[in-house]
Amino acid sequence: MYVCLCHGISDKKIVKLVEESGVSDIRGIKAITPLGSQCGKCIRQAKSIIQHVVLER
Ligand code: FES
Repeated sequence: MYVCLCHGISDKKIVKLVEESGVSDIRGIKAITPLGSQCGKCIRQAKSIIQHVVLER
């Protein structure tokens, strides 16, 4: 499922980035992808996914 429609970034992609790159917050994801840089509607959902993965570490 796409989280960021503007840039075609899926929930799976976010999970993979958090697991593999050690990123642990929205800032980190935004530093390595364009997520949220257009309409910003995806930020809330992306934050929730990141938090979920981080809590499972
Ligand atoms: Fe992510 Fe628009 S949906 S910037």
